[in-house]
Order: sequence, then C-alpha cells, then structure tokens
Amino acid sequence: MTSPEEARPLRVLQITDPHLMAHKDGALLGVVTRDSLSAVIQEVLSVHGQPDLILATGDLAQDGSETAYRVFGESLSRLGGDSAWMSGNHDNAPVLREIAGEYQADRRQILQSGWHFVLLDSSVPGKVFGELAETELDFLESALSEYPDTPTLVALHHHPVDIGSDWMEKIGLKNRDAFWRIVDRHPQVRVVLWGHVHQEYERTRNGIQLFATPSTCIQFTAGSSGFSVEPLAPGYRWFEFKSNGEFTTEVCRASAFEFELDENSSGY
Ligand SMILES: [Fe+2]
Repeated sequence: MTSPEEARPLRVLQITDPHLMAHKDGALLGVVTRDSLSAVIQEVLSVHGQPDLILATGDLAQDGSETAYRVFGESLSRLGGDSAWMSGNHDNAPVLREIAGEYQADRRQILQSGWHFVLLDSSVPGKVFGELAETELDFLESALSEYPDTPTLVALHHHPVDIGSDWMEKIGLKNRDAFWRIVDRHPQVRVVLWGHVHQEYERTRNGIQLFATPSTCIQFTAGSSGFSVEPLAPGYRWFEFKSNGEFTTEVCRASAFEFELDENSSGY
C-alpha cells in the first residue's frame, strides 16, 4: 500500500533567462529584470506554491556580476526548495559556480523521487552559441550509464534542435549531433529541457519530450526569421514527476506584470 507521502509527485520549477544585473533598475528592452523575476516568483507562489526542486537553465545574469547572482539566490529563497544553476551565454560561468556554491545550487546530477536530473554546461566563453565540451559529453555518457533504469531529464541552456527561427538556428547547440548520439543510446531519457530561446516550445523526438520555456524577462517572437521580441508576459514552467516515470508540465505567465517593451530593438 502506498502512503499519501509516497504518492505525492515531485514538484519541479524551471526558471530561465532572468538576465539580472548588478544595478537594481537594470533593464532589458525596457523590462526591469529584477521586477519581472519578482513577478514570476509571486505567480509561482500563488498558483503552485513551493517547489521541491528549481532548475535554473542559464542567463541568470546579464552582466556576470556577483551581485546579480546573489540577487538571484535571494530571490529563489522566497520559494524554498533546492536549486541547481546552469550557465548560459550571458553568464560568467566561474562566478556563477562560486555564488551557486553559497546557495548549494552548484549541482550537476540529482536523484530524487525516482527521477534522475542531469544538468549540463553548454556555455562557451565569449560566444552566443553553445557547445558541449568533451568533458561535458563524457559526464553525460557516464551519468546516463550509471542509472540505466531511472527516468531521466537532461537540462542545458542552448537548444539542441531547430526551433523554426532562422536567427536562433545559428546560436543553438553547435555539436548537437554528438549530444543526440549519446542521448539516443539511453532510452531512460524522457525529457530534454532548455532555456535561451525565451519562448514556449514543445515537441517529441524519438519518444523524448522536448521543452523550452519563456524567460522571466523578455520574450522572443516564435517563428521569426530575424531578431524580434513580442509583448508576452514573463513566465515559468512547472513539472510534476511521478516515480513511475509519468509526468505533467505546464507554462504559466505573470499576466498582471506591467511593462513597456522596446519592440524596435535590434538585439539584446
Ligand atoms: Fe537569454
């Protein structure tokens, strides 16, 4: 017989691309990124409540500053739960790891409630595109080989598939073939999750469910061939994982958050 506690699914929050800055009024295309993150966290608390685990999939800071990462850590402490921070193209990976250590968020592999979470660093210093170094590919292979029977989620910052936006195609994961060669050998992988694209995305590939998620600040226009933003509200993704390998997921947005987006910008 299963007790109510055992039957409770694992509640996982994905927060991505907050682009925080040292200055409290730091803004991206007119959106004050601390304010939009705060609105998203408030939305999580009112819609879903406390998560068990938070996956932060990169571009945590726009300026790579220690202050921005500490603001991020303090912001997440409003939610409670454990977190794991990944680097994106805007991050300073060594600084991120150092501050993540202060918040016990410098984690690469998590086993919880019958699921296995493998967190990769696809950032390349000074580049917008992503690439998994040999050491990351080796880590992925060994992590997946270690738990062949445990349902697994793999998370990284850069998109490992074409999402139908020409300008983003050039800034995705460069060595995606090497990534998929490893993942395809391990059928326990159920989910691949990323940030970077600042939009909701969902697809199935070879039985694996692929997801991307709105940023907690600005949103890129889905399907646009060139750089373009659209005035959608900031958001997050929520998962509930059952120990039998099943899960549900949804995207929620902080619709009450008011902002004036500079839609004519040519970049971010
Ligand atoms: Fe981003």
